[in-house]
Amino acid sequence: MSSVDSTPKDAPAWGENALLEIVDGIAWVTLNRPDKRNAISPGIVWEMNAIMDEVEANDAAKVMIVTGAGEAFCAGQDLKEYFRIPDTWPAIERERLYRANSQWQWRRMMYFPKPTIAMVNGWCFGGAFQFMIACDIALAADDATFGLSEINWGIIPAGIVTKSVSMVMNQRDSLYYIMTGDPFDGAKAAEMGLVNFSVPREELRERTMAIAAKLMEKNPTVLRSAKAAYHHVRSMNWDTANEYLMAKHAQTNANDPERGSQKGMSQFLDEKSYRPGLGAYRRED
Ligand code: COA
Repeated sequence: MSSVDSTPKDAPAWGENALLEIVDGIAWVTLNRPDKRNAISPGIVWEMNAIMDEVEANDAAKVMIVTGAGEAFCAGQDLKEYFRIPDTWPAIERERLYRANSQWQWRRMMYFPKPTIAMVNGWCFGGAFQFMIACDIALAADDATFGLSEINWGIIPAGIVTKSVSMVMNQRDSLYYIMTGDPFDGAKAAEMGLVNFSVPREELRERTMAIAAKLMEKNPTVLRSAKAAYHHVRSMNWDTANEYLMAKHAQTNANDPERGSQKGMSQFLDEKSYRPGLGAYRRED
């Protein structure tokens, strides 16, 4: 058996391989293995799942921003700690690791009940595409370096990487980068739709926080439903999607503790205090 622990840690639940700091509504989540370019080890997997439990439950956290410590966002799965060593584990333990990794990287991330932003501050390779794409919004530094490097070390982009890429990049770009493994920068990532924006490195944090602030002005119940609806309707036909969306709309209104749509309508139609086309209604009333 190896020196890498195959069991989830009891304590600390996080704070070693992944950090959490909640400031002014933003849950800053930082992959914290800078010496290994934040490559995803079992430690990151267990700690990220624990962090997501906390962010989900903690009312102080309104938006989650995921980034990396040091010069990397994330160099993908750790070739040694996630692949080579777990290959020596009993299959059931390896499968538990893979399942837990799928949980935080895309199953939970995609449907996370709070808005999520990937702040790509540097190297972003392979497995990192999974949670970066599963985040609702992604910003990159212009000079961040991306790559589907799997081909360079002899595997296909597995896990859910190829599927994720096909959701946001077109076929020509997807196959070009899957098959060549060529690296590309943040500006190219934005041009292809892999990230929303790329910005000068010195503006990355501020621009990401500005988007978080914008999201925090919106009704959190409606945000939660809106993103879930988006992901669900993608695989539905038009009639089913229409039925589902109308039902989701009714469910959202019924469950909304702040009665947002009534407020929004009243502030526009009666008070004439704002224009929905140009910004959000006042939530504090
Ligand atoms: N898995 C395991 N270890 C990794 C890693 C990964 N994905 N990415 C980086 N590391 C480790 C290196 O082995 C090295 O460890 P060491 O100091 O014990 O030798 C350390 O991180 C620093 O890496 P290094 O290559 O020296 O850093 P760099 O800044 O020169 O290059 C990268 C950065 C990201 C370009 C390079 O590390 C790299 O190509 N990593 C692999 C990326 C990849 O293919 N990911 C896909 C996995 S699915």
